[in-house]
Amino acid sequence: MSRGNSSVASESNPDVRRLADWSAGALRELAAEYGTPLYVQDLDRVRENHERLAAAFPDAGVHYAVKANAGRAVLETLREAGAGAESVPAGTKNAPVGAECASAGEVYRALEAGFAPAGIHYTAVNPPARDLAFVLEEAPEVTVVAGARDTITRLDERGFSGRLALRVHPGVGAGHSEAVATGADAKFGVPVDRAPGLLDAAAARDFDVVGVHAHAGSGMLSDADVATHREVVERVASVARETTVDLEFVDVGGGFGVPYRPDEAPLDLDAVADATRDALASVDAKLVVEPGRYLVADASVLLATVNTVKQTAGATLAGVDAGMTTLLRPALYDARHEVRSLAADANDRPERRASVVGPVCESTDVLAEDRSLPRPERGDLLAVGNAGAYGVEMANQYNSRPRPAVVALADGDHRLVRERDSLSDLTASER
Ligand code: LLP
Repeated sequence: MSRGNSSVASESNPDVRRLADWSAGALRELAAEYGTPLYVQDLDRVRENHERLAAAFPDAGVHYAVKANAGRAVLETLREAGAGAESVPAGTKNAPVGAECASAGEVYRALEAGFAPAGIHYTAVNPPARDLAFVLEEAPEVTVVAGARDTITRLDERGFSGRLALRVHPGVGAGHSEAVATGADAKFGVPVDRAPGLLDAAAARDFDVVGVHAHAGSGMLSDADVATHREVVERVASVARETTVDLEFVDVGGGFGVPYRPDEAPLDLDAVADATRDALASVDAKLVVEPGRYLVADASVLLATVNTVKQTAGATLAGVDAGMTTLLRPALYDARHEVRSLAADANDRPERRASVVGPVCESTDVLAEDRSLPRPERGDLLAVGNAGAYGVEMANQYNSRPRPAVVALADGDHRLVRERDSLSDLTASER
């Protein structure tokens, strides 16, 4: 495999887009037009991210991890950008793009967005029967990535004899939080030492056994994370060497991190690609990667309006109209997102220690804790950075809060791609 080249990381396509790089004026205009809370999603930046990723992994199949952001506009953008064009088996009919799907719902969305079934990997984690039924019925050409022997048995019982890959549990994990270091969690995949035997046994049945898979975790950024990723790849490579099956691909998952703090350096993607290729050097199979976050995180910000300002003994509380139902990551993982005041006179205001809190009746409903911000005032517009991955995707209606609207920017224009839930949407499915 040849070496990557991220020379596209230039002025026009920098390794990272920071919150400070967004135009305050343009964001204020969008908030005025569509209201808040509002996700602003820059599809041109999604394309740039894909371009850098593809340059670092020129020989790999890229399967976008749909769970990071399953919006139709994002899926169509990546499909058009050619994600996965290389990952399609030779001779497969016209399947130029790839998607990694975690559920029947994600497969449904990927198909709706025009992904060819043959370019879809369905990562079946304890798959509900309804999911299996849908996927095998509607898209039998998918590659099913099974993570348990039991899942293979269930596929067999359903008469599936299509493309099968095995997810390996590497036993080590990496990521921004223990909660997402899936490689260390036995829920995902089969143990390394049992994998070659399972692959051989599946091939002896009717399955078309095509690959092995492992995923270290989500949000790798440090050198230690990259070393863990390498370890994971070495373990999955050992499975590929030991099985007697002639594998088409080794899928090393996603997990490529992005910096959430302004002073954090971006991931050295070439170093990750080199480590991946080194670890796979003795394996004669195609490399597949499944990035989610890397492609979409810095392409989006969340806009919120300050509606209440409260002085407490410790800090100023800026109460906003977005919260843990709009962006769950801070509450769930203690994740850090930058916050920027877009008030026109922000630069003239004194700095305050402030926390940004939402409208939900939970103490965990905090978007940012104890930050230095221009003194918040009611009516201010705030932007929350790096909101594109697992942002709107994890939005929910707890406290009967309508999920936010999403506006997409592309080619100098903008359009509403997801309407804000109305109050009647909240009860629309009740009987
Ligand atoms: N492939 C598999 C099998 C995965 O489980 C995941 C993520 C990915 C690929 C994509 O990982 P990424 O490139 O996006 O890091 N909600 C959490 C992240 C959960 C990730 C779960 N699996 C968060 O907000 O940080």
